[in-house]
Amino acid sequence: MPVPMLDLKRQYQPIHQELLDALGHVLETQQFILGEQVAAFEHAAARQLGVAHAIGCSSGTDALWLALAAAGVGPGQAVITTPFSFFASVSAILRAGATALLADIDPATFNLSPAAVEGVLDGPQGKFVRAILPVHLFGQCADSFSSLGQQRGLRIIEDAAQAWGAEWGGVKAGGLGDIAAFSFYPTKNLSAAGDAGMVTMNSDDLAERARMLRQHGMRRRYYHDEIGWNTRMDGFQGAILAVKLRYIEGWNHARHTVARRYHALFHAAGLAEAGPYPVHGVVLPHEVPGSRHVWHQYVVRTARRDALHEFLARRKIGSEIYYPVPLHMQEALKCLGYAEGSFPEAERAAREVLALPIFPELREDEQQTVVNAVAEFLSERS
Ligand SMILES: Cc1ncc(COP(=O)(O)O)c(C=O)c1O
Repeated sequence: MPVPMLDLKRQYQPIHQELLDALGHVLETQQFILGEQVAAFEHAAARQLGVAHAIGCSSGTDALWLALAAAGVGPGQAVITTPFSFFASVSAILRAGATALLADIDPATFNLSPAAVEGVLDGPQGKFVRAILPVHLFGQCADSFSSLGQQRGLRIIEDAAQAWGAEWGGVKAGGLGDIAAFSFYPTKNLSAAGDAGMVTMNSDDLAERARMLRQHGMRRRYYHDEIGWNTRMDGFQGAILAVKLRYIEGWNHARHTVARRYHALFHAAGLAEAGPYPVHGVVLPHEVPGSRHVWHQYVVRTARRDALHEFLARRKIGSEIYYPVPLHMQEALKCLGYAEGSFPEAERAAREVLALPIFPELREDEQQTVVNAVAEFLSERS
């Protein structure tokens, strides 16, 4: 039986009439850029996240840039982030005109290691650091870094692209730092029908700056105070997202059930290993106690990852590698000045991680098929 990595049609079918009605409303009002649908979504999103402001924009990548620019990060300053993330976490820092400094990850969570961040802060470039940009990878919050930020007078800018609804110490992603960026790319837990993103914050000043920067630095129409950009959310995306926002808690809950079932099935098959590094079996994802993981991805570690990926593909079982090349080893980021060996945990993770199918509607029999296939692969080669 084939098992898809993600099947968005299963999400669409039960809510398609609501979505069509919402799109019809945009056509009736003819408000295609921002407008009342986007404003309604922003309002509901801020309430759901427990933050004072939520500002829609055109993608998660732009949201990261907007967050950095609103926070005043620019030339002559440095931002610390992780080498194990999507490219935009670093490229947005460079686009803001700042320097990106990297710190290694915690091998259990794949998130930025607080000890490694302190190492960079205490190093020769530490004095240029203006902000820390933790990424809540795969749907689990990175350490909030709030006390470190306070001690050292640094801004905390969350890359919450993968973490709608995730929590750390009872606080939702989006409200853990000074400002946060979300993506609504169609594969995300809360997804648009195209590109869309959002920045969130509690500070009125940061909100005012972000609103101004997303519209070419305008406070008053056609009076430009700063060089901003066009990064507005469009009305259709706002309308779709406002509908889906009503379902996201249930979908995140269903993802949690799917993750629990994988845990149980892998343990029952005798394949689960303690970790953080794999030996013969698979290391299951680690949930930090007291935090809420929203299971954007279910990522295991295994020693013969590439062979398993190909084996599953031959059986038409979806799996993906997030991410095969750590950011410091990307061709485009050689300019950062790191080399292979600079971040051993990120490099090892890039060789061992494999994301298995996860989405709210994934059925138990499909998960059993995935686990059976992994068991067959491991037994054939042991
Ligand atoms: C961690 C992370 N940061 C940033 C982004 C960029 O978001 P977008 O694709 O909406 O520009 C993504 C998603 O692709 C992401 O996963």
